[in-house]
Amino acid sequence: MFNSNKIELKTNDQIRQMRKSALVVADIHKALDDAAVPGITTGELDDIARDVIASHDAKSNFYGYYDYPRQTCISVNSTVVHGIPGAEVLQPGDIVSMDCGAVLNGWHGDACFTKVLPGGENAVRERREQLSSITKEAMWRGIAAMAKGKYVSDIGNAIDDYIVSLDPAIRPDIVEDFIGHGIGTKMHMEPDVLNFRTSRKGPKLRPGMVLCIEPILAQKSQAYRTLDDEWTVVTQDGGDACHWEHQVALHAGGVWVLSAPDGGAVGLAKYGIDVAPLD
Ligand code: MF3
Ligand code: CO
Repeated sequence: MFNSNKIELKTNDQIRQMRKSALVVADIHKALDDAAVPGITTGELDDIARDVIASHDAKSNFYGYYDYPRQTCISVNSTVVHGIPGAEVLQPGDIVSMDCGAVLNGWHGDACFTKVLPGGENAVRERREQLSSITKEAMWRGIAAMAKGKYVSDIGNAIDDYIVSLDPAIRPDIVEDFIGHGIGTKMHMEPDVLNFRTSRKGPKLRPGMVLCIEPILAQKSQAYRTLDDEWTVVTQDGGDACHWEHQVALHAGGVWVLSAPDGGAVGLAKYGIDVAPLD
């Protein structure tokens, strides 16, 4: 069984510290959102992330993690996750998931957003925009479940319920092997945060938890393989994939989406949830 004693619970002051590292990640996202246009390489985007991290006197938590060679993971089109930035040139209409992290004063930040580039074939781009908005919505449903639920497993149940509710003609497949996680003094901590329904209740949601909620969806089948670089995960069928991730704190007053500059106010308003910033 899950052992909730292993979960690192943060004080309100520690959550405020984690807000700072998550805002470094939000700053990387803003820089990459502006810079990601057709013609730039994923390696150039990674260099921008490195400069943003340095400008905050933060450190990369991706670089060197199990010998990972870069500061970000940039996963384009049929890359599911852990794309290593390099010589790949972004093309019009690409779907680009940019997973970024930073560590500041010992506290880890980790979040991912997706941009669909302008141009390309309309039908292809529109299908990718739909995949990105479904994945983003799945993430917000998970965050809403963290605010309203009782168990960590309520998050994956809410994500699964949302995906199952979609018209089969557009319904993506949940890539079940990649899951969210606790975060704090390390990037990956207890508890596991599944993106699908489970009958195991697992640990209760408790004040002081900080979780990364990060659904990864495939347009067609979730079946994947890992390339010889031992990182890059691609779909078997060549279909597109998409990843969104926020880092969310739960405290006695409610939830605070640490990696969203507005604390999650806009994303959670449609669920009738008032966010509870501690600043
Ligand atoms: N950011 C990923 C996650 O969401 C982990 C990145 S793995 C690394 O859990 F090696 F790139 F750091
Ligand atoms: Co993560």
